[in-house]
Amino acid sequence: MKKINIDLLLTNASQVVTIVPSMAQNAPRRGVEMSELNIIENAAVAVKKGMIVWTGSSAEAKRNFSAKKNYDCKGRIVTPGLVDPHTHLIFPATREEEFELRIKGATYLEIAAKGGGIKATVRKLRAAGRNGLKTRAMGHLKAMLMHGTTSIDAKSGYGLDMDNEIKSLRIINELAKEQPVEIAVTFLGAHDVPEEYAGRKEEYVKFLIDKAIPAIAKKRLAEFCDIFCEKGVFEIEDSRRILTAAKQAGFKLKLHAEEFAQIGGAELAAELGAVSADHLMAISDAGIEAMRTASTIAVLLPGTTFFLGLKNYAPARKMIEAGLPVALATDFNPGTSMTESMQIIMTIACTQMKMTPAEALTAATLNAAFAIGRGDKTGSITLGKQADMVVWDIPNYRHIPYHYGVNLVKDVFKKGKPCILK
Ligand code: NIG
Ligand code: FE
Repeated sequence: MKKINIDLLLTNASQVVTIVPSMAQNAPRRGVEMSELNIIENAAVAVKKGMIVWTGSSAEAKRNFSAKKNYDCKGRIVTPGLVDPHTHLIFPATREEEFELRIKGATYLEIAAKGGGIKATVRKLRAAGRNGLKTRAMGHLKAMLMHGTTSIDAKSGYGLDMDNEIKSLRIINELAKEQPVEIAVTFLGAHDVPEEYAGRKEEYVKFLIDKAIPAIAKKRLAEFCDIFCEKGVFEIEDSRRILTAAKQAGFKLKLHAEEFAQIGGAELAAELGAVSADHLMAISDAGIEAMRTASTIAVLLPGTTFFLGLKNYAPARKMIEAGLPVALATDFNPGTSMTESMQIIMTIACTQMKMTPAEALTAATLNAAFAIGRGDKTGSITLGKQADMVVWDIPNYRHIPYHYGVNLVKDVFKKGKPCILK
């Protein structure tokens, strides 16, 4: 029999964890479906033109395919590339001194009130040249890729004026073209009220609605618009106005919601048809139900609670049992979660929020892909999707959260191309 020509054949994987979309429909996995990983043992994956064209047994693959490039997994396991659906990628400097102040008893909000926190990063970003910002971000993207992340959301939000938000978004758009990690770009001009608008929040809200959102839409610099919807920052009414304007301008929506206080951010996300609401530590039962009905994805960021030394983890078990699709993300930023690794986030999700390793993996791949609007392209090893895959140096998928604090990635493929072959 004549063999079928393909570009790449991965063989001898002890497990290929496929995580196909829910009921073969184009949807994130919910409830008990989050535990169903659809594992193929002694498996192979065939790739042509960067896409997955076949999955099945290794023996059958060797009989049927002739590949330009063969990759022997040598008993290792293969999963979809990890997806990180919430990162603050563009920032000018780290804030390790705040980390130490918190260890000594200061809280995040106290440090922010004294001019630290987001405002300190905004001051530095405005003074920073674009080359330095870009080089730093490129380094972080490399670290993400090395740790198995092949697609991310990347937010602006430390510029908070027209020039510096555009400067940040332009850098993200350039980076999206210049390295392998796929990026969904998010405008987060509503991350905070900048210092020059102190006591004049309404004027900043008007600036966002009348000037920033239309300008960024016109320049096509972002796909999503996000907001820090929180008591004392942008409250529900501000958030509704800003996000409604963004929706009308053509943005898909995301919210930082119910992080510290329960003010109805989850219900607002549902009402506006947001793709995701993120954080959600203080979510109410009504909020969970509203998001479930609207199919708004809950993006949980347990690294933030962990890194701030707090105990207020989001109620992941309640959400999964209610049938809300749950995704995981790093919240990578210099203040509240300084890690590029989705692996450690999965460990924290398991130990602190009691997600199972299977649920955590679904949340870090397929559901995370839907949370950045890429669920039809990546997040599972399914025919017709991009060949975004991680080869792990472990005997089975449970080791990803179990064997923690070290990098378990052997190789990464983005659209069928090897990225870090060691
Ligand atoms: O997602 N909650 C608001 N924003 C970030 C923190 C940003 C910072 O401290 O620099 C977050 O946790
Ligand atoms: Fe965030």
